[in-house]
Amino acid sequence: MNYEQAYALLKAHSQEHLLQYYDELSQEGKARLLAAIEALDWSFEEDLKNPVDLSGAGRDIRPIKGMDLAEIENRKAEFEAAGVQAIKAGKVAAVLLAGGMGTRLGVDGPKGAYDIGVTKPLYIFEQQMKNLMEVVEKVGVFVPLYIMTSDKNHEATTSFWKEHGYFGYPENLVKFFKQDMAPAVDYDGKIFLETKDMPAMSPNGNGGWFASMKKAGLVDDLNEKGVEWLNIYAVDNVLQRIADPVFVGATILAEVNCGAKCISKTNPYEKVGVMCLDGEKPDIIEYYELTEEMANQKDEDGNLAYRFGAIMNYLFRLSTLEEIVNKKIPVHIVEKKIERLCEDGVTRKPEKENGKKFEMLAVDLIKLMGSVLPYVVVREKEFAPIKNKTGVDSVESARELLKLNGVEL
Ligand code: UTP
Repeated sequence: MNYEQAYALLKAHSQEHLLQYYDELSQEGKARLLAAIEALDWSFEEDLKNPVDLSGAGRDIRPIKGMDLAEIENRKAEFEAAGVQAIKAGKVAAVLLAGGMGTRLGVDGPKGAYDIGVTKPLYIFEQQMKNLMEVVEKVGVFVPLYIMTSDKNHEATTSFWKEHGYFGYPENLVKFFKQDMAPAVDYDGKIFLETKDMPAMSPNGNGGWFASMKKAGLVDDLNEKGVEWLNIYAVDNVLQRIADPVFVGATILAEVNCGAKCISKTNPYEKVGVMCLDGEKPDIIEYYELTEEMANQKDEDGNLAYRFGAIMNYLFRLSTLEEIVNKKIPVHIVEKKIERLCEDGVTRKPEKENGKKFEMLAVDLIKLMGSVLPYVVVREKEFAPIKNKTGVDSVESARELLKLNGVEL
């Protein structure tokens, strides 16, 4: 794309200001800016014009059936055998969603490269791979691993894995792909410049992971390998069980399109989103959307009817993902503090929110999948999220939970 073409395109979208420093740029800078303009995804305009109603109004919310710890324990041998068989047959792959910015943790670089060790280094990626290796050792095969990064952390992530010898995993089974980026805009819908030669872009949320994987040609790779199930998981949880055979077996035997690891709510007012049905379709309802009555509603066994809090560890059926890949996932428009080029030519992060970002969420895929098995795990054994440095869901709380599980720090 040359300058004239870029100008015409931007004019059509009322975003010509992106070229305001063009004449000052070096040849490389000019090429970089033109390439970024050519790659812009304009779907945000429609999202701004017609935002999806995410208020939850008008839904027909009902409790969903899930599998509690007692049933899992009773049928463990049966589930485990089915899971081991599927993993051995190469039907299960893992997908790590690591394209986020980890803003709350406040570190530069990939969140998974964060060292949570006390007496020796222990990186988040490393601990998760130790968890996966337990399955590999038990089952006797390596599970193909796909890692989603973004433009913001791709180089740093791939070189970190290389430096650490892929944490003992075969290099040819670890494949990286980049997620898509979305522009960040001010309150008038104008795209910010981050630098004179770059519009402000940010990862488009974790919901577009499958579309990005497909774009990267990796769905062909999955099909060639005979993979049928994808276990997606978040980078933050250091107690994450990956390709857990019991979970895999339970999902397959339940004949659903998706399994969702959940923690069971301990009290009616716990602040977690829970799985539910909207009519016949599985969905998630946020804690603030539950009425007093729903929060306290009990099922026939006397348990909270809305108790299944999903922890971002899902097993998706690949054939269903392929069927829904072109369906629109709702875009969440979120107000954020966006780093942008100021009038004095310096790039700064504002003190207060100054604009909007566009994000899709993995959780919104659940409805499209059509059927789901909420599968309860022991919270203390499988859920140690790291969102912050201290306090709730922090490095500190995760360290305590790791110690409880016998991990030496
Ligand atoms: P979070 O929503 O906790 O976001 O992501 P985050 O970016 O890690 O942290 P904050 O909100 O900036 O503090 C949950 C999971 O989804 C991934 C993250 O890497 C994490 O594993 N994610 C998030 C993506 O892969 N892409 C995104 O665009 C956003």
